[in-house]
This record gives sequence, C-alpha cells and structure tokens, in this order.
Amino acid sequence: MSQATPKAHQQAGNLWSSRMAFILAAVGSAVGLGNIWKFPYITGENGGGAFVLIYLACIALVGIPVLIAEVMVGRRGGQSPVASMRELTTAEGTAKGWRLIGWNGIIASFLVLSFYSVIGGWALAYVGKIASGVFTGADAATIGGAFEGMLASTGDLLLWHSIFMAVVVLIVGRGIRSGMEKAINTLMPLLFVLLFIMVGYATTTGKFGEAVSFMFSPDFSKLTTEGVLKALGHAAFTLSIGIGVMMAYGSYLPQKVNIARTAMTIAFMDTGVALLAGLAIFPLVFANGLEPGAGPGLIFVTLPLAFGQMTGGVLFGTLFFGLLLVAALTSAISMLEPVVEWLEEHKGISRAKSAFFGGLAIWLVGIGTVLSFNVWSDIHPLGFLPYFEGKTLFDLLDFLVSSLMMPLGGLAIALFVGWAMQRQGLDDEIGLKGAVYSAFMFVLRYLTPAGIAVVFLYNLL
Ligand code: PHE
Repeated sequence: MSQATPKAHQQAGNLWSSRMAFILAAVGSAVGLGNIWKFPYITGENGGGAFVLIYLACIALVGIPVLIAEVMVGRRGGQSPVASMRELTTAEGTAKGWRLIGWNGIIASFLVLSFYSVIGGWALAYVGKIASGVFTGADAATIGGAFEGMLASTGDLLLWHSIFMAVVVLIVGRGIRSGMEKAINTLMPLLFVLLFIMVGYATTTGKFGEAVSFMFSPDFSKLTTEGVLKALGHAAFTLSIGIGVMMAYGSYLPQKVNIARTAMTIAFMDTGVALLAGLAIFPLVFANGLEPGAGPGLIFVTLPLAFGQMTGGVLFGTLFFGLLLVAALTSAISMLEPVVEWLEEHKGISRAKSAFFGGLAIWLVGIGTVLSFNVWSDIHPLGFLPYFEGKTLFDLLDFLVSSLMMPLGGLAIALFVGWAMQRQGLDDEIGLKGAVYSAFMFVLRYLTPAGIAVVFLYNLL
C-alpha cells in the first residue's frame, strides 16, 4: 500500500523552490526532439505560416487546457500519478475507473523513456563525431553511411544508451531540489544560450530571409486536413501532456502558484523554442542547397552535411548537437520522475534506490529498441496485422505511447477534470475567475475532448 498521505510533498516541504523553478523544469520537459527536429520540418511541409497559425490554435484549445488540468490534478493529489488519482477519485466520489489515468502515466512514461534514451544517445554520439571533424568536407554518401553505421552497431548504440540513462538516473536520484532543480538551472540557460548562438550563426548564411518566408508566409493552399491533424497531435506531444509527466511535476508545485498563468508561460516558451529552432536550422539547409523536408534524416544527415561545408562548421555543429542533447536530457529527466515517485511511495524505498532500479528496468527495456535498429531489424512482432507490417519493436513502442497512451491519457484527463470532478473550488485551484473560468471549462469539456478524439481516430484509421 502507499506510504504517502494527501498532499504529501506539500506537507514535507518537498517542492520546487519557486514558480520559476517549476517553469524551467516543465519547459525542459516540453522542449525536446519534438521542438528541434519535428516542428520545423512539419511546418515546412504543411504550408509554413498557415500551419503555424493552426498549430497555435491547437496549443490554445487542446494543449494549454490539458496542461492546466494535468498540473492541477497533480498538485491536488500531491503524490505520484497513481496515488494522486486514487486520492482524488475517493475524495471526489467518482468512478474508480479514472484511476487508470495514473497507471497509464506510470507505464507510458516508463516506455517512452526506454526509447527516448536510445535517441538521446545518438545526440550524445554526434556531439563527439562532429567535434572530431570527421564530417568536415565529407560528401552525402559518407555522412549517410556514418549514420547507418552507427545504427547497425549494437555495441555503439548500447554504449550511448547506457551513458545517457546513467546521467538521467544520477540527476533524478538526487531529488527534486538537489538533483533536478540544480541540473535544470544549469541546463536550461545553456539551452537558451546555445539556441541563440545557433540562430545568430544562421543569420550569417545569407539565407535567413528565405528561411523566414519558408516558415512564416502562410500558404493555405498547402494546408490539408492531415496538416491540421498533425498540428493538433504535435501540440499535445510537444507539451508532454497525457502521460503523467506534468502530473508528477505538478505534485511538487507550491500551493500559491497560479496554475493557469504558469501553463500559459510554459506553452509560450515551448512554442518560442520551436520557432527559433526552425530559424536556426533552415538557413543552413538552404545555404547548402539541401532538402528541408528530409524527415528523420534532417538532423542526423542533412545538418552534418551542411556543417561539413561551412566555415566554423565543427564548432557550430558541436554546439548544435550539444543543444539537441540538452533538450533530450531535460525531457528524459521528466520521464523518469513519475516512475521514481511511484516506486518511492509505493515500495517505500529511498529516492536514490528508486531512481536506480527504475532506471535499470527502463534501460533493460531500451535494449529492445537498440536491437530494433540492427539484430532485430527484421523482426516485426505484430507484422501479421496489416497496419503493423514491417514495424519493429521500436516502431511498436513509439506507436503504443505516441498514438495510443498519450492521446487517450490527455482525453481522460480533460474528461475527468471537465466532467467528473466537482467544480467547487476548482476555479481557485486553477487560478481563473468568473467568465474566464467558465470559458476555460467550456473548452475543456467540449472542444478539447472533441479535438483529441478526432486526431486519435484519424491516426488509428
Ligand atoms: N515534449 C517532448 C518533446 O517535444 C517529448 C515528451 C513527451 C517529453 C512526453 C516528456 C513527456 O520532445
């Protein structure tokens, strides 16, 4: 049984030291591969400025409402997602089925970290590769070959995955203030500095204007239904909502902090980083006559090629992969937190031990992802089903988390807060008053669930 009591962290004073500390941690979680790799290229593919407008609407109508609801549930429950949901369903007299939200959070964050760590390892590997100068002047075939070669080597992938996971465990194991807050207070300013340096470097390429118009000139003729749905899906993914991470972070949020205002700040900063990342990347791509819609290869093949041809490419390439690494690391830290918080309270073991054993289990599952790129690349666990043909274990995990557990989790949180919880006192907890609160509730009850449901069904079909 749980060792924790209601609002356990509030009583113990085990909280983020300030509103700013929470904002940095949450922005650290939100800013990840989604911002630096995915956002720029889906923007380019879906009509630039038109897509950005739709994306902003999705952030407002789905992203921010669920973020507010999730952080609020976390703070009100004050424990791990599992215990918080148990607490709240009892206190609110709702159906016990809502408790699945908590379990969904623990399991999804466990699974997502198992493969995120492998990709984070690539960023780590690339810091070293670019710094060593091996890509300087190299041609596309050599650079593509280097990426393929890395994926083909079980030993290499395992090594980087292990180092990345070890760093995450060391940070999370030291606790909210002495581990995570300390690390985040160093890493996030570093991230912003690196990002600004990269944007500055991009302005020297002579193609900055082209990148700006590529990203911002609205071309509604290029915007398809699929693009709208992508914008919505990405709005949820980029804010780290639906898998218990923001709930876990919210459980350490001091009672006096205004959740609504804080959530808006987080969403604003996350979007700002995504836009700046595009402005850092596309000028380099255009200056070297490369393909902006190159997908996964954009970061690990196209960009190294660009850096290999530019003055200062070794230095700025190293800084860029440092930026990617920092972004991945602060997201990974947040993914371990729900698992550690749960182990701590449920098993009654110390934080350090919880981080170690939780991290070890995640690392072990991550080996499945490592092998998916080489030894097991021909193994397609659900390949007999039409949709899963040719999909590796890694593809399956990604699908399970990103297409099922995250949207369903977000939907359930919106419905739980919008419909199941008693409204008395909610306005106070959320920090909105009067008409603004009513408008928020309307969005959370109707628009948010409808939006998520549409994307969810679309992705499945
Ligand atoms: N928001 C992160 C990104 O954009 C991914 C993430 C998802 C982080 C879920 C934590 C939880 O890359």
